[in-house]
Amino acid sequence: MQYNFDEPVNRIGTDSVKWSALSTQFGNPDAIPMWVADMDFKSPQPVIDALTDRAAHGVYGYGNFAQTFGPTVAAWCRARHGWEVPPEAVVFSPGVLAALSFLISEHSRPGDEILIQPPVYHPFARDIQNLGRTVSTNPLWMDEQGRYHMDLDDLRAKARTAKMMVLCSPHNPVGRVWTREELQAVADICRENDVFLVADEIHSDLILPGQRHTPILSLDRINPVRTAALLAPSKTFNIAGLHASVAVILDENVRSAFQTKLAHYHVGGPDLFAAVALTAAYESGAEWLDQLLLYLQGNVDLVQSFLAERLPQIRATRPEGTYLMWLDCRGLGMSDDDLETLLHKEAGVVVNMGRIFGAEGSGFIRLNIGCPRGQVEEALRRLERAVSARG
Ligand SMILES: Cc1ncc(COP(=O)(O)O)c(C=O)c1O
Repeated sequence: MQYNFDEPVNRIGTDSVKWSALSTQFGNPDAIPMWVADMDFKSPQPVIDALTDRAAHGVYGYGNFAQTFGPTVAAWCRARHGWEVPPEAVVFSPGVLAALSFLISEHSRPGDEILIQPPVYHPFARDIQNLGRTVSTNPLWMDEQGRYHMDLDDLRAKARTAKMMVLCSPHNPVGRVWTREELQAVADICRENDVFLVADEIHSDLILPGQRHTPILSLDRINPVRTAALLAPSKTFNIAGLHASVAVILDENVRSAFQTKLAHYHVGGPDLFAAVALTAAYESGAEWLDQLLLYLQGNVDLVQSFLAERLPQIRATRPEGTYLMWLDCRGLGMSDDDLETLLHKEAGVVVNMGRIFGAEGSGFIRLNIGCPRGQVEEALRRLERAVSARG
């Protein structure tokens, strides 16, 4: 079927954090929300149909899904990434961050150093600190074309004292889809230094045309006892509110320790609707996703050409994956506070300020382009007007 991503869907009054916070948090109900990482599109029709059918059944008792996810996720990973996942290695988790916190508490002790690569998805640092561990940073660096790279020498040095590393692959917010060589270098450094490597691959199905994602567990050399991958249909199919994700853990003992931890907190089993949506998305969502990725590419092109022609003070990093764009606003010569006022109050465009992703994000913003093109156009026009009103 042909999907129409241009069609606006009214989310006001649906308890959407992205939209309701315009009034409650940002004090500007007329602003356009281009922040939180969910999309303003309807999910694939097979997902909607499966949820509707299940809802119509009317009985929502305890489910028994444990056996069904492995083959479903494995088939998806084979078709999408050419990656053979042993079905038994797949474990349900009620969210990627939940899985990450369980892994951190299992594989490190309070005070231990855990590596992250800022600017990076901000809850990593928060959760590491909340669990009493220490954040160790291996900042990414940007080349003259605005593309980000890893500093492997710095990583090698810091891995000597770190116990774990959280890798964001693809990377939120800078949009890099890491190459096999880059990932192998990270995996080698972690293996040589006995660092437990967790790859957050939540964005791994949102790969823009011309790019290819390499799953960390598909590399030639990894330590299967000290590596885990976290995947989810949540970003890909816009079902984040259902809290469905999986951890892939190859080693049986590490996996069963993870499952025991979840069981201790009684979060091992999925919500009924999470299970239905995950299955429908992975089994029947590919056609929608293929169309979505082309549409997102169109949004990226629009932002890039608009900024280049009409707002050259703002430079867009070209994302290779995700529906998030990382915009370098340093050419405007504003402080972060002033930039935030310009965007949220004067332009009426709510974004994530770059500084929340680490000090390296100062002067940048993250723009969520997972919405109808008309909304992206309106946000850009508002931004241009606000900048020229400043003179
Ligand atoms: C890199 C990354 N990891 C994790 C999450 C959150 O995942 P979950 O809602 O499954 O905890 C997000 C959401 O934006 C994300 O971008």
